[in-house]
Amino acid sequence: MIVTDSCVIHGQIGHDHDVGPGGPVGEAAWVTCSDLWDTETAAGYDRASEFMFAPAVLDPAARFSADLAGDGAALEFAIGTGRVAIPLADRGVPASGIELSQPMADQLRRKRDDIPVLVGNMATSRVSGSFSLVRVVWNSIGNLRTQAEQVACFRDAAHHLAPGGRFVVELWVPGIRRFPPGQAVPFHVGRRHTGFDTYDLTTQQGTSHHYRHHPDGTVTYSASNFRSIWPAECDLMAQLAGMTFESRAADWQGSPFTNDSDSHVSVWRKPAET
Ligand SMILES: C[S@@+](CC[C@H](N)C(=O)[O-])C[C@H]1O[C@@H](n2cnc3c(N)ncnc32)[C@H](O)[C@@H]1O
Repeated sequence: MIVTDSCVIHGQIGHDHDVGPGGPVGEAAWVTCSDLWDTETAAGYDRASEFMFAPAVLDPAARFSADLAGDGAALEFAIGTGRVAIPLADRGVPASGIELSQPMADQLRRKRDDIPVLVGNMATSRVSGSFSLVRVVWNSIGNLRTQAEQVACFRDAAHHLAPGGRFVVELWVPGIRRFPPGQAVPFHVGRRHTGFDTYDLTTQQGTSHHYRHHPDGTVTYSASNFRSIWPAECDLMAQLAGMTFESRAADWQGSPFTNDSDSHVSVWRKPAET
């Protein structure tokens, strides 16, 4: 992936060739502080993230999302290669997404052509239709590296929701108890991938350092930048977007969220029309 030190413009507004088959018809915007995930990263994503494709991880996420979507449609921000969208579609929920990286969207398209993806920034891009569920999973909202863009993302979610619809965010809790000053902290140590985070407490800016272990024995390095968000800051962003807090659990299975939880699955609701 490309590491950027400042906000960049990845493209122009409204390239309709980026709209997937059968929609969503929309207006894509690329102006963002996010890193842009490149072709190499996209090609290796599913393999490097195989631990996140395990049924034990995916089934509860898909079940939770399908229950919330009900009879409606689901839109995923930062849909990636469709890790969660595909099992959701398999449950009969019409699924579509917004994704910044064309190579990530291409990987999804290679696997499935029934999940439309608009290539653009999840903070500002608009697709047509309204959704009973909008979600952003696996910490992806942190890829927006400014508070302003994260607030815009909550507003974009509210824009796409039907009255009474829900916005779901799966996000890590900044593990400040684990961060000795100036040191990196491992967040994943696996067979194919080892990752460390470095983190600035005052700015909430962080970098994930990824070491990918390839079958030929080589190891490659890449980095991705993020801005962490506290759960309470998420609630404020939802409030600014006109949504009300509904629930917070530690995981997709609904385990209680406690002082020791290192992640949360939170739900906010757009008010139903009266
Ligand atoms: C950790 S991956 C998650 C992908 C997928 N949701 C999953 O759970 O496997 C993060 C994704 O966020 C995308 N992304 C980063 N910034 C974005 C932005 N501003 N708008 C839309 N997608 C973005 C990246 O391109 C990448 O596909």
